[in-house]
Amino acid sequence: MAKNNLIRLRCFGKEVGKIGFDEHRNASFFQYSPDFLKEDTYTDMFPLIFKRIAQTQVFEQYNNDTFRGLPPMIADSLPDAFGNIIFKAWLESGSKNLKQISVLEQLAYVGARGMGALEYQPCKDLSANTTINIDEITEIVKQVLEQKSNTGATALDHASLLNIFKIGTSAGGARPKILVSENKVTKEIIPGDIVYSADYDHYLVKLGLEENKKYSPELIEYIYYLTAKATGIDMMPSKLIDGKHFATLRFDRQEGRKKHVLTASGMAGWDFMDPKVSRYENLFDLAVYLKLPHKDIEQLFRRMVFNLVFANNDDHLKNHSFLYNEANNKWLLAPAYDLTFSLNPLLTYKRTSRALSVNGKRVGVLLSDVLKIADSYTIKNPKGIIDHVQHAISVWEAHAKEMAVPEMIVEGMKKQFVEIN
Ligand SMILES: Nc1ncnc2c1ncn2[C@@H]1O[C@H](COP(=O)(O)OP(=O)(O)O)[C@@H](O)[C@H]1O
Ligand SMILES: [Mg+2]
Repeated sequence: MAKNNLIRLRCFGKEVGKIGFDEHRNASFFQYSPDFLKEDTYTDMFPLIFKRIAQTQVFEQYNNDTFRGLPPMIADSLPDAFGNIIFKAWLESGSKNLKQISVLEQLAYVGARGMGALEYQPCKDLSANTTINIDEITEIVKQVLEQKSNTGATALDHASLLNIFKIGTSAGGARPKILVSENKVTKEIIPGDIVYSADYDHYLVKLGLEENKKYSPELIEYIYYLTAKATGIDMMPSKLIDGKHFATLRFDRQEGRKKHVLTASGMAGWDFMDPKVSRYENLFDLAVYLKLPHKDIEQLFRRMVFNLVFANNDDHLKNHSFLYNEANNKWLLAPAYDLTFSLNPLLTYKRTSRALSVNGKRVGVLLSDVLKIADSYTIKNPKGIIDHVQHAISVWEAHAKEMAVPEMIVEGMKKQFVEIN
């Protein structure tokens, strides 16, 4: 492995190993650090794919858009499509070109600022003393998005883009979002990838940039959050900022510590775009393999039922994560996130089939399909859980009305909700 094609992987203050990339073969490599193996700690932090051996391991099978040739657990750290727009704009405002940036260089830019606890070296030093205003960020992201559809114009200066890059690229997913940290005492807001400390609340904020007054996806996501909580789904405390930005506390930053997190897709190497592996049964099997407590298996069942009833079809394998407890080397189900109405009510609710199949079905899922899953994974009282979730439609409606969601939208969405029978 050539030196400049190597990057160090660190976690919990230790060097875990080195990652290499061969552009010609489009293959990646991983080698555990001998000291890390010798210490024999955190042995389950990568429960699949990496073998705990001293030799270099080669990965040639992950050469697709999702994993980009990297080991999938590492690809989880790469910025998503939204992050890449900003990354690209940022590069273009300087002298570099995105095409010349390798995946390892992208990881180097992620550095110690990524989601979860995995860190990459070398990383660029970014000063820790900038204070950023949320309105300014909203404006810059808007401009970057506008700029995307209007290539050629470079309305933004390097410094602003650098600022937003520092904030905007660390979270995965599809919608515009930023990471911010709020000082618990002074309420000062700083970019979310600079400090992690118990003095701050660390938020992931989905920005409400849409001008459309009729439909705010962030408001709807907030209403879904309230409804999901009412059905016993575990989620991080979340709030609406200025009635339009959805802010959720990060489960990968808790009590001043970084928590190691992997998505189901990243942990198991299942491409979340591939229908063959996109099955709820895979998710349950993974949870069983990880020896999750039975309450987590039941929680997963509750989330599946919620996604069915509330027409959240975007329930793919990157929208489910697991959280590592470094103190006892065990995994737990991470809190739920990205629970929302996934159809666009302004585009006449065009129906899409759900990402994860239930008993092989993506549409027309019946009670018998859901009960079959309940039986396979020994869920107690599945009908009680289904009833509970089903009744929450009225909770959803009450919140929607209280928050002045237009009647037309409320009725349109309700029509898409499903009665499991
Ligand atoms: N509360 C949270 N704490 C930590 N990570 C989160 C949280 N919510 C979401 N994430 C991570 O951020 C990514 C993007 O969030 P998500 O809600 O899925 O946005 P999108 O609608 O863009 O897909 C998720 O895939 C997940 O890895
Ligand atoms: Mg998502």
